[in-house]
Amino acid sequence: MNNNYQEAFEKTRSAGIIAAGALNEVEKIIKPGIRTDQIDKLCYEYINDHDAYSAPLFYRGFPKSCCTSTNHVVCHGIPSNKILQDGDILNVDVTALKDGWHGDTSKTFEVGKVSVKAKKLVKTSYQALMNAIEIVKEGVCLGDIGSTIQNFVEAEGFSVVQDFCGHGIGRLFHQEPNILHYGKKGTGEKLKAGMIFTIEPMINFGNYETKILKDGWTAVTKDKSLSAQFEHTIGVTKEGYEIFTLPNIKN
Ligand code: MF3
Ligand code: CO
Ligand code: CO
Repeated sequence: MNNNYQEAFEKTRSAGIIAAGALNEVEKIIKPGIRTDQIDKLCYEYINDHDAYSAPLFYRGFPKSCCTSTNHVVCHGIPSNKILQDGDILNVDVTALKDGWHGDTSKTFEVGKVSVKAKKLVKTSYQALMNAIEIVKEGVCLGDIGSTIQNFVEAEGFSVVQDFCGHGIGRLFHQEPNILHYGKKGTGEKLKAGMIFTIEPMINFGNYETKILKDGWTAVTKDKSLSAQFEHTIGVTKEGYEIFTLPNIKN
């Protein structure tokens, strides 16, 4: 992997820009009254129009092109005729497969005017992701990433979901290593330049425990408290990191 990861970085960047671009378009249509399947359609079309494929569609039987997770839904919510309400928080998770490589990113949006507590949860989950990304470089270990997230989130009075994690990504959607969002500093595998993976902490207002609904996909907080998440696909370099899932503002 160390010998010449330039191609992997370039292709992941191309996929990542498309995924991020889709989220940018989603942001423009989010408002009370729209259905989550309208967001799905937008993602499907945007990604197709950019000569890429929506990786979630038919992935292990998943029926839609993106995940839409509202309020107490932690992740993997299935787009449907559900109508967004003023005050909801909504995570949209998009993955583009372009030229054989994946780019995976998600954001939590505020629908209309949300409560002060929801705002704080959303802000904390974004900051948890960015704090973790900022420490990434060759030689840092996985436990440093997990502990950075966990320490920050728990100090804010929230909890970190343990049932889902970030993941290596590349030609495969999900691959080694697992990127846990909790853990102990100085433990676990050491990062090497050329590694590509996601960081995607899910942060709960209440307890960290989750359960899966009968549809086999939708993960919710057991205590029905709010949950928020942000995700980027990043690459490790000798000096630091590259975030692949930022929108290209020229697009
Ligand atoms: N994009 C999700 C992740 O961050 C995975 C979605 S898999 C699906 O890993 F099948 F639910 F779409
Ligand atoms: Co992911
Ligand atoms: Co994702």
